[in-house]
Amino acid sequence: MGKSTVISMAVVRRLPRYRRYLSELLENGVDRISSKELSERMNLTASQIRQDFNCFGDFGQQGYGYNVKELYNEIARIIGLNKSYNTVVVGAGNIGQAIANYSSFGKLGFNLVAIFDVNPKLIGLKFRDIDIRDVDDLDSYLDENKIDIGIICVPKAQAQRTADIFQDKGIKAIWNFAPIDLKVQEGVVIENVHLSDSLLTLSYRLNEAELFGTEEK
Ligand code: NAI
Repeated sequence: MGKSTVISMAVVRRLPRYRRYLSELLENGVDRISSKELSERMNLTASQIRQDFNCFGDFGQQGYGYNVKELYNEIARIIGLNKSYNTVVVGAGNIGQAIANYSSFGKLGFNLVAIFDVNPKLIGLKFRDIDIRDVDDLDSYLDENKIDIGIICVPKAQAQRTADIFQDKGIKAIWNFAPIDLKVQEGVVIENVHLSDSLLTLSYRLNEAELFGTEEK
């Protein structure tokens, strides 16, 4: 990275979107893009984009735009996509199966290596060639295999216990789908995905004008 300052979370949250747009530009054979053009496509201001990209180093030349490939590579590296990660899913119900069946995570370098559940009807079945194992074997599996990311898709009441096993076995990153704020040790990072929060925000925005009698901005 060109600069050694820590990147703010607000910028970090925009990185996946930058990566996605830059990847589309590369696919379309675009070598260079100005912050103005990118801002029009992404619905951000050009100055916001310039500020964000300045955090990573010097990728633009005045009047000449950004080198798309260099910028893409640097953003991918900052996100950590220059490595690969082993992941496990615990809870092979609706959400767990949807994640297990989504092969694009693997293309990004997130390799699902095992799935665990308590339900005897599910244990032994396979998703995309990955066995569903008995959750009683989770501890020993994590002793024997280096796992980078634990994915929690169990009911809320079982989620903290699952997170505790992950942490005890040295997993440092948890992707949590259960609707609960999990307690994690220092040094463990957690990302919560709550589809219903997003849906409720949408509902609020749908009703905002009626509530406050104003047009949406
Ligand atoms: P589900 O009931 O279809 O699947 C849960 C699975 O976990 C079942 O197969 C069950 O046998 C298994 N399980 C239960 N206890 C376990 C344990 N101790 N160890 C291993 N496996 C265990 O539920 P669904 O719909 O897949 O939801 C899973 C979680 O995701 C729930 O916490 C739910 O509230 C949450 N959810 C989250 C959403 C989001 O946006 N993040 C959206 C919908 C659900």
